[in-house]
Amino acid sequence: MTSPKTRTAIFISGRGSNMMALVEAAKAPDFPAEFVLVVANDPEAPGLQWAAERGIRTFALDHKPFGKDREAHERQIDAALRAEGVEFICLAGYMRVLTPWLVSQWAGKMINIHPALLPEFKGLHTHERALEAGVSEHGASVHWVTPGVDEGEIIAQARVPVFSDDTPERLATRVLAEEHRLYPQALRKALAASK
Ligand code: GRF
Repeated sequence: MTSPKTRTAIFISGRGSNMMALVEAAKAPDFPAEFVLVVANDPEAPGLQWAAERGIRTFALDHKPFGKDREAHERQIDAALRAEGVEFICLAGYMRVLTPWLVSQWAGKMINIHPALLPEFKGLHTHERALEAGVSEHGASVHWVTPGVDEGEIIAQARVPVFSDDTPERLATRVLAEEHRLYPQALRKALAASK
């Protein structure tokens, strides 16, 4: 008998290429997650349509009308997650800092992908900063989500070389290809650890 797949949500804000890589990976019969909901804070996020076309339910809730009340926005998202029976969350290019409230609701059940070799280059503009710092190696990390931004325990990392003639765009492309390989593997590992 196979064990049931973990009902997993993916949070996006834009194109959702990491979401696509996760959904593709989940076609493998032994993949431990099924993606049941895609959440976006931008109703125009291009990834929403891609998900809907594949029969994945979507929940888009614009954060702007909530102003500074980030928790009110998240309480509605949380209700949608509960209504869908979601058990685990993958943040994949979700460009909002989560409140401690939502993080505590999903402690040990939420992971994120960050385009840098954490603990180096937390936050935004990681590729520009890596080039400015002159590092010879850069990459991506999947980590558990904790209240501190990009600070949770690292689950897995992927490394790429940095070349002398790199631009932020070229480096981003090289890192993104690795992200797409890394995220499904890291999710497998995270789910095995959270059981
Ligand atoms: C990725 O580089 C991810 O690591 C970062 O934002 C980007 C999102 O890209 N957090 P996509 O929406 O998955 O294509």
